[in-house]
Amino acid sequence: MPLVTLRQLLDAAEAGGYAVGAFNANNMEIVQAIVETAEELESPVIIQASQGAIKYAGLDMITAMVHAVAGQAKVPVALHLDHGTDFNTVIACIRRGFTSVMFDGSRYDKEENIARTREIVKIAHAAGVSVEGEIGKIGGVEDDIVVDEREALLTPVEDAIEFYRATGVDALAMAFGTAHGHYKLPPKLAFDRIEAVHRETGAYLVMHGGSGVPDEDVKKAIQLGVRKINVDTELREAFVGALRQALQEKPGEIDPRKLLGPAREAVKAKLREKMTLFGSVGQAR
Ligand code: G3H
Ligand code: 13P
Ligand code: ZN
Repeated sequence: MPLVTLRQLLDAAEAGGYAVGAFNANNMEIVQAIVETAEELESPVIIQASQGAIKYAGLDMITAMVHAVAGQAKVPVALHLDHGTDFNTVIACIRRGFTSVMFDGSRYDKEENIARTREIVKIAHAAGVSVEGEIGKIGGVEDDIVVDEREALLTPVEDAIEFYRATGVDALAMAFGTAHGHYKLPPKLAFDRIEAVHRETGAYLVMHGGSGVPDEDVKKAIQLGVRKINVDTELREAFVGALRQALQEKPGEIDPRKLLGPAREAVKAKLREKMTLFGSVGQAR
């Protein structure tokens, strides 16, 4: 089926009370792993490319790969730009056939973030493309931070509500305690903020830094209104771990397919785990 928008996937997730996994793809093997696993499990899925992934693989290559693999898929797939910070990149993705874009204006103050995000929403929606916005800053893992400081980094509920209403985004990323990368200590999630924003606005919340969040916390966040969960680090670990093992076990192997094949399989195993946890299995329609 043709690619679908983020809005279509998250409307269904809201109705069904589950979350859709948004998995970062940097190469062909990961794109294939995502679509093959989604098909095996009859799960909707989001393939996302960061600006770094686009720089590495090329925008035309990423778009062509996803359209080639996902365009034939029997499950709904969205192609999403992850953390687009640059207006021109966002527009280029819309023009090339992404069905969703994230505009990450978190480095600007609230008013400027709202103004810039609104502009993107206007353009993207006119082109039939969904938009994710970010209010507050979801950083990297900062385990040295003391509790008061950690609290100060969370997005105030009023800011999240104001941003959501003023911009018209389809999905909302806010800082509620997760961070990108590998946690040294389990994160402490502000479930009260997730619940308050979802209850007040109905916004579809996005969990960034989904790798390493304990399963029980993920399930609770979904119950409270998280509808999109981003996972990158755990896929990287699975891919590179299996690749390292293959290199060690077959030191004389010079066929890349014999080394990258097991890496693709390891990513698929991790994806099965995540899609099952998120409750999206069997929800493709
Ligand atoms: O949130 C960031 C994602 O993990 C993408 O990382 O910019 O290194 O591709 P990247
Ligand atoms: P992790 O790498 O921590 O899974 O975070 C991914 C993410 O949030 C991408 O936007
Ligand atoms: Zn992120």
